Amino acid sequence: MKSWAIGINRTWGCVLSREDSLLMRAFGCPQGFLGKLGGLIMAGTNRKCAAWVIDLLDVQPNDKVLEIGFGPGVGIQLLASPAPAGYIAGVDRSKEMVAQATTRNKKAIESGRVDLRHGSVASLPFADNTFDKALAINSMQVWPDAVAGLREMRRVIRPGGEAALGFTPYSGQPSSGLAETLTAAGFAKARVVERDKNSCALAIKP
Ligand SMILES: C[S@@+](CC[C@H](N)C(=O)[O-])C[C@H]1O[C@@H](n2cnc3c(N)ncnc32)[C@H](O)[C@@H]1O
Repeated sequence: MKSWAIGINRTWGCVLSREDSLLMRAFGCPQGFLGKLGGLIMAGTNRKCAAWVIDLLDVQPNDKVLEIGFGPGVGIQLLASPAPAGYIAGVDRSKEMVAQATTRNKKAIESGRVDLRHGSVASLPFADNTFDKALAINSMQVWPDAVAGLREMRRVIRPGGEAALGFTPYSGQPSSGLAETLTAAGFAKARVVERDKNSCALAIKP
């Protein structure tokens, strides 16, 4: 690769091509003008996948649910409706996405039903066994350490609770190996389902 095409991304601690770096700023960890644009695009294109994954999780009215990497907050908005008496929390490492998702979910945040935080899956700001369910859509593929992130996700889910990892084809995440990754992180009964080129890996915290 030519040197002009290489940028060192210190945040991610890896070497990225210029094209990859632009994609990261728009979608991977949205920031600046590209991040604003990326948020608008994701809000339109990923809604159907988010609705499908939430449906698979069978969210109940009193459920406590965590979404990691909520991006523009469409999934959070969809989650707040089947859990009107529950608690929906979210963590995202992009300040731009926290801002967009906060605007999108303003009323639910003011009512205390939705709680959005800036942070990383590497260290979730919640106690052990807090959530009935947790999900991440188009996010795990950009975490620096997927298994470590999933272990942290498992920590905050209660025993018997469920995790879901959804992916659209744009994520670039192959569905092969997803069940094994969840198992390596300590989850049980991992399975992968596919629909309309979207995939979702589901598993239970033993
Ligand atoms: C491709 S976007 C997907 C956004 C949204 N879930 C969707 O499908 O439209 C990936 C999201 O994961 C977030 N993210 C990336 N790495 C993260 C990490 N280590 N911890 C928490 N969030 C992360 C990004 O900031 C971004 O909002």
